[in-house]
Amino acid sequence: MTTGWKEHTQDGTSPMHSTRHDLPAKSREKLVALLNACLASGIDLYLQTKQAHWNVKGPQFIALHELFDRVAETIEGGNDELAERAVMLGGTALGTTQVVQRASALKPYATDIVKGTDHVEALGNALATYAKQVRAAIETATQAGDADTADLFTGISRDVDKQLWFVEAHAQAQS
Ligand SMILES: [Fe+2]
Repeated sequence: MTTGWKEHTQDGTSPMHSTRHDLPAKSREKLVALLNACLASGIDLYLQTKQAHWNVKGPQFIALHELFDRVAETIEGGNDELAERAVMLGGTALGTTQVVQRASALKPYATDIVKGTDHVEALGNALATYAKQVRAAIETATQAGDADTADLFTGISRDVDKQLWFVEAHAQAQS
């Protein structure tokens, strides 16, 4: 085991650390990049959800205001798990706004959205994009030989699907 805290870098800004973790370094590097890719989208999604929570208006205000906050809490919990798993594997969690802006797979959230139905549409799209990214990551982590990271993605994927259901249900029938 090497002792340097900076074994090597993935992109010059995210050092990999020395660890006794038994997965091969190449696999860990790949997994850290995968975790950070989802973390960037997850942080973006968290902020988009808060944006909706703060600005929603209309007859369903209180229901949507509270729902969007619960969605944000769920996404935030997943983000913490993703970041800490990246560090467990010897990597660096990349959670700054600058990285998020560069790396998020989500479309920017329009800041002029007001109506509840429009927030439901926008947030539904963001949740679906993130759900697809995380579901694909389950397979990639499995192929990299890391059942634990695959399991983490599976849990997050199940949570995101549930939040998508909660949000989409507002648009699936006329009230
Ligand atoms: Fe609030």
